[in-house]
Amino acid sequence: MRIDVVSIFPEYLSPLDLSLIGKARREGLLDLHVHDLRSWTTDRHRTVDDTPYGGGAGMVMKPEPWAQAIDHLRSVGDESYAGARPLLVVPGPGGRRFDQAMAHELAGEPWLAFACGRYEGIDERVYEHAQEALDGRVRVVSLGDYVLNGGEVAVLTITEAVARLLPGVVGNAASLVEESHEDGLLEYPVYTKPASWRGREVPPVLLSGDHGAIATWRHRQRLERTAARRPDLLPSSATLAGGKELPIR
Ligand code: ADE
Repeated sequence: MRIDVVSIFPEYLSPLDLSLIGKARREGLLDLHVHDLRSWTTDRHRTVDDTPYGGGAGMVMKPEPWAQAIDHLRSVGDESYAGARPLLVVPGPGGRRFDQAMAHELAGEPWLAFACGRYEGIDERVYEHAQEALDGRVRVVSLGDYVLNGGEVAVLTITEAVARLLPGVVGNAASLVEESHEDGLLEYPVYTKPASWRGREVPPVLLSGDHGAIATWRHRQRLERTAARRPDLLPSSATLAGGKELPIR
């Protein structure tokens, strides 16, 4: 997968050199290009923002540098990818909420581009230009109902959630399946050695060697944990592995 990120703080993306994502880049599984939006400015001060028409607080990102950035992506598509276009993701609190299902959708794309807004946002005409230049492949995506200072942290989050779904990025593919949000339930609690620690015991069923009993216990834990922490994820009642109903508290 190719990912392009356009930001006025390219160094903000440096954590993408680390850990599994950094390794995926070095192994050629992820082709990441980070661009400085200011490289598409033409004035001495490398200006990317200006005051909002109609008044109001803060500054708005100017259209021209963003249009140049989008045109650059388009020309990369023409020159290197037979006219293909990236899916442009613009992080912002006004977008569709990011979740595991969207991570899977994005992981199916061969080429993603992220436009990191700052200040009060990007001039609305940039979205119109991007829609046209990228054949309608533009999405505004929100991490949640709160406001960040810019899109960079969202790009780190979305890139990590997406890249770990790419084949070969996470060593043990089975660990991707048994995870919170993969099937609508939160993960069960996990334990490791020692079996007894500071007077706290690992649940005996996990030491029993009875795989059926362990699977049932883990499923019940997932239901109880989801009911306690995220009742919004559950239907009105959820079914246990054995077909028994667990009442929702
Ligand atoms: N930029 C500012 N706030 C954001 C949010 N909640 N999600 C994604 N990008 C943002």
